[in-house]
Amino acid sequence: MARTSRFPGFYKITVAERRLLVSEATGASSRDIEVALDGGGLDAETADKFVENVLGTYALPYGVCLNVRVNHHDHVVPMVVEEPSVVAAASSAAKMVRTGGGFEAEVDAPLMTSQVQLTHVADAAAAMAAILGYKAEILALADRAIPGLVQRGGGARGLDVRQLGTDEDGMIVVHIHVDCRDAMGANLVNTVAEAVADRLAVLARGKVGLRILTNLCDKRRVRVSCSVPASELGTDTMSGEDVIDGIVNASRFAELDPYRAATHNKGVMNGIDAVTIATGNDWRAIEAGAHAYAARSGHYAPLAVWRRAVAEDGTGRLVGRLELPMALGTVGGTLRVHPAARLSLQLLGVSGAGDLAQIAAAVGLANNLSAVRALATDGIQRGHMALHARSVAVAAGASGGRVEQVAQMIVEARDVTLEAAKRALEVISRAPMTAQLEGE
Ligand code: MEV
Repeated sequence: MARTSRFPGFYKITVAERRLLVSEATGASSRDIEVALDGGGLDAETADKFVENVLGTYALPYGVCLNVRVNHHDHVVPMVVEEPSVVAAASSAAKMVRTGGGFEAEVDAPLMTSQVQLTHVADAAAAMAAILGYKAEILALADRAIPGLVQRGGGARGLDVRQLGTDEDGMIVVHIHVDCRDAMGANLVNTVAEAVADRLAVLARGKVGLRILTNLCDKRRVRVSCSVPASELGTDTMSGEDVIDGIVNASRFAELDPYRAATHNKGVMNGIDAVTIATGNDWRAIEAGAHAYAARSGHYAPLAVWRRAVAEDGTGRLVGRLELPMALGTVGGTLRVHPAARLSLQLLGVSGAGDLAQIAAAVGLANNLSAVRALATDGIQRGHMALHARSVAVAAGASGGRVEQVAQMIVEARDVTLEAAKRALEVISRAPMTAQLEGE
């Protein structure tokens, strides 16, 4: 955890100044930050060890989400994302949540599941009974395939078996649940699936089919909630109470309409994916698990929902809750080799995968809150444009304090274009020196 995750005015200072502040708050040395992040944190030679046919690397912005409090601990949360406003949105919503006491989170045991498909099964009921009768033996066989994990306190914990389709399909699937400790666990459960498959096929009097993890790791879920006072939610033109109504309406829209739920969940995943990538984890696995979980009832639904609650003093509060599977690791895989991923864990100061899952989910809920609040009030474009205006100002040649000045002028003129930014820059450059200095 960090000494603090509150840095007022962080967005206004230079990259070097930000690194210094984060170093002081987290204990990561400035040198570690520099080494891990300069040049994108990965050289071509190291990248060549990751994947095949490497030509080079592809860098993305690495920012930090501020103001995050989860279970009463502060965290500076690294986010890797290309989309403007995602980091700012998460930070600003986390600030509102912080006023309400921060995020409360809890996480299940780190159980990942191997699937072993068995085909040509003539008598599915008998096959399932036979497999369940040998459960202890199968779990012991699984454990023998992953001795390192067993030594670290993990290992096979349970087994289920289901028939798929009708008797004519001749197909059953066996699930082996494995406690993967702080690993994401894909390799571990794939190893288990391959180790137990032949024995299962003998017991089922069938043939081995696929042997692979499921990304719908619904035994490894994280839950996060927050409660924000109405006073934190108001805008220039809407009261906090009205904003709560708007956000509850947005939630109901997503609950009733899968088209909206997809976009609502995209907002949640903006935050979760960014933390997943920053920590060297597999974001496709997280995405697959999240959307399959969202569709678990047969109706694709929002992962996060919002409701009104009434505080003891009679004022309104907005209460949000997010739940999803979260297969994140803090050991192994990319983490071992990617310096920026290692730095991310250092900045976060997490004790293990469960902690990381809770923080990632909190950032997801923060991004969703920010999105639905914007949508329920001014609309999303105003905030987006304000941020986009800064990059347009830079593209027009502004630097230092002039970036903000130019950005403000083109936003006010509702003309966020390169031409407008160039004109604004010209106007500012012609202004008397004293006025310019005041502006900076
Ligand atoms: C954009 O990246 C995400 C949003 O579309 C999410 C939402 O609509 O809730 C703003």
